[in-house]
Amino acid sequence: MLSLRAAEQQRYDVFMSRAPYVGLSVTSGSRRATAADIVASVQREISSGALPAGSRLPPVRALEKQLGLSKNTAQAAYDELVARGLVEAREREGVFVMAAKTARSIEAPITTPPLPDFVAPALSRPDFTPRGVTNLSTVFIDPELLPTERLSECARSVLREKMPAQYDVQGYQPLREAIAKRLVARGLDVEADHIVVTTGSQQSLDIVARSLSRKKIAIESPVYAYAKLLFENLGHDLVGLPLDPFAGLDLDAWDRALASKPALAYLIPSFHNPTGYSYSSAELRGVLELCAKHGVAILEDDWGSDMLSDGEYRPMLRMLGGRNVLYVNSFTKKLLPSLRIGFVAAPPELVPTLVATKRLSTLGNAWLTEAVVAEFLDRGYYDTHLQHLQRSLDQRYAACLAALDELMPDGVKWTTPGGGPTLWLEIPRTIDLAALEAHLARRNIVVSNKSAAFLGEPNLHGFRIAYAWLAEHEMRAALTILADALRTLG
Ligand SMILES: Cc1ncc(COP(=O)(O)O)c(C=O)c1O
Repeated sequence: MLSLRAAEQQRYDVFMSRAPYVGLSVTSGSRRATAADIVASVQREISSGALPAGSRLPPVRALEKQLGLSKNTAQAAYDELVARGLVEAREREGVFVMAAKTARSIEAPITTPPLPDFVAPALSRPDFTPRGVTNLSTVFIDPELLPTERLSECARSVLREKMPAQYDVQGYQPLREAIAKRLVARGLDVEADHIVVTTGSQQSLDIVARSLSRKKIAIESPVYAYAKLLFENLGHDLVGLPLDPFAGLDLDAWDRALASKPALAYLIPSFHNPTGYSYSSAELRGVLELCAKHGVAILEDDWGSDMLSDGEYRPMLRMLGGRNVLYVNSFTKKLLPSLRIGFVAAPPELVPTLVATKRLSTLGNAWLTEAVVAEFLDRGYYDTHLQHLQRSLDQRYAACLAALDELMPDGVKWTTPGGGPTLWLEIPRTIDLAALEAHLARRNIVVSNKSAAFLGEPNLHGFRIAYAWLAEHEMRAALTILADALRTLG
């Protein structure tokens, strides 16, 4: 039997010799190390930065064993280091490199590894415009119109639940069920098991594009620029499907482009970004027929079909083409950008691949925001919110059209989407877009350069007007400055 003191000592010894501590390399040539060798080695390591402040040194016993020394030699070395103010012995904790004046902080790296070779994406800009600057082209909705209070209420309610330890890589089941229910109510044939929840719809585009075995995608031109840049970044060849919001779709040109057999056509049929264009019912049918004829799968980005007055919806390719159409939508714009929740509804046989691809990039997304959105949907808040939102957006849209009619000089034209967050303003080609941007920037107005949205030569010459973002008086003020600039530069 060990005495109480010995047992305590043993526990203490075990505790003291536990990892982690920083192994010491002591140089002493071929002879056995002395206390002075240990002191010199520690001092050298501290001044080179290899032993930063706070590092725990090996316990005396470990050092004894490592260097084949007597306990006294190791203890004497540590006593000397303490005396020099280089280390401190903390009772029951160990011996630590001092933080203060005596122990130098790292002044220069020991060696500098090279930087990796990165390929920078073509377009990189701040997510939100700074205060005092009016963004006339953003796709975001004015935060004043978003239900932050009610979302906080849902978040508080969710936080009262016990946090689950596990996550579901496909997405929180109650959220997938609530999404499926909404889509079914809109005439889509979707089940919760066919939905993968993602970080915004951007991650849906990412996992679909990554999962394709053939690296060729057809895109409208112009198109949502970050989709085009993403597909390029993932190594896809791109085929352009020309889109002119004033003339409609040239389906003959699309027929020729799709004949080159891309794996997938990425399409935004409602309130297309950046033009605000919506396919007619004949065009929806025509596009489905062309894709079937050429064996091209469809990825429908439906960011806007529920951004219409009076609870109306626009028809969707997924509705008309059935389960094979991959369908993407998002809550980030309409509910709250910081939530970053989107989803893809996929044909059942593709779901395991999409889930596996998502797992590779994130393992799974955070449960909390998914649970908050599920709660928001479950309480019926989303439909009420969309109704309120749409009423405000309708007013802003009407005021924006009236201001454009009144203020814009001849030769400027614009689309009239009737829904979604933006319209396209087309300006005369005689006005240089870069000069206009610079001119407006000096007046604290940002218009978005859309060159990245086109594949090849731009067939349009203009930018988006963000009536969902600006209050009526702000929109009017910004359009007045824009109209002056167009007259000055025209
Ligand atoms: C047409 C379209 N699709 C997808 C996205 C991605 O949005 P999020 O990831 O916020 O859902 C955007 C963002 O602006 C967009 O405009």
